Amino acid sequence: MARIIDVRRDPDEAIAAALDVLGRRLPVAIPTETVYGLAADATEAEAVARIYEVKGRPRFNPLIAHVADLAMAEQHAVFDPLSRQLAERFWPGPLTLVLPLAQTSTIHPLATAGLDTVAMRMPDGFSRRVIAALGRPLSAPSANTSGRISPTSAAHVDADLGSRIALILDAGPCVVGLESTIVKVEDGRIRLLRPGGLDATEIEAATGMAVERPETAGAAIVAPGMLASHYAPDAPVRLEASHVEPGEALIRFGPEPIAGEEHAHAVFNLSLGGNLREAAASLFDMMKQADATGARRIAFGPIPRHGLGEAIHDRIERAAAPRP
Ligand code: TXA
Ligand code: MG
Repeated sequence: MARIIDVRRDPDEAIAAALDVLGRRLPVAIPTETVYGLAADATEAEAVARIYEVKGRPRFNPLIAHVADLAMAEQHAVFDPLSRQLAERFWPGPLTLVLPLAQTSTIHPLATAGLDTVAMRMPDGFSRRVIAALGRPLSAPSANTSGRISPTSAAHVDADLGSRIALILDAGPCVVGLESTIVKVEDGRIRLLRPGGLDATEIEAATGMAVERPETAGAAIVAPGMLASHYAPDAPVRLEASHVEPGEALIRFGPEPIAGEEHAHAVFNLSLGGNLREAAASLFDMMKQADATGARRIAFGPIPRHGLGEAIHDRIERAAAPRP
């Protein structure tokens, strides 16, 4: 059973325990502002292998390297001017940059799936202190069984992976609640590989440049983990519901009721006031709660597509995608 340490109560104990477990080449669940991560020393093959093992994740799907500061970032990746500008503006924060691996990098090829690039981000909050204390990057995917909904609380991690890992650091619910936005600068252009917790329009406002979306969904497998079905609850998922069918749990957004919701198995509201930031932070927890009601299906009401709505739609469309 995993030991759970509340980092708000005992930060020093949390760091010491994390270094002990990481030193034994075992993964630790760490809180980031986006979702909880399953972290291991990115430079140790055995440690990284355990992440794939615990998650049941295919090894061709590379991991994000999390760094504590820009000096650590530059030891492992090469920054073009535009990527540097993005890092300086948005780090620490929910932005991942795909960058060429530096010759000086000691990140193990297992963590990058043998690619000559590395996905990198500087997380906000307590996880950054853990990385600084270790002095090396942490590879960390979301701390969930592969294909399932990402965890936004220590309790989520414990329910899914608690029997398979030694330590969970608890810093309370994640503020952002969606995985990071992943971009790659190519030929001076910014390409969006995964919409996420940083609204892409903020990147556009900061740079005065367009963030380019993949032209077709099929062409989007540049991030190997972007498989169609993901974030899947047990119950099937129906989108854009204009009415509720018997036995369905409803997840909706904003003040407007949905026809028939008085007969719903359960009703959850992502944000009664219609705030997309609040909706993003609540999304995964409400999907888990809706699933736990035992409803025969989860129906989503309409959600706006602008701003963080882009990432919210990406996640719920994957949740609704045909399962393998
Ligand atoms: O917010 C987040 O990003 C969380 C927290 C823990 O930091 N992490 C996360 O990791 O969502 P994960 O493994 O679930 O997603 C990482 C994505 C995958 O889709 C992977 O394929 C992609 O990043 N990726 C990793 N390395 C890449 C690379 N070199 N080029 C393109 N995509 C890459
Ligand atoms: Mg994930």
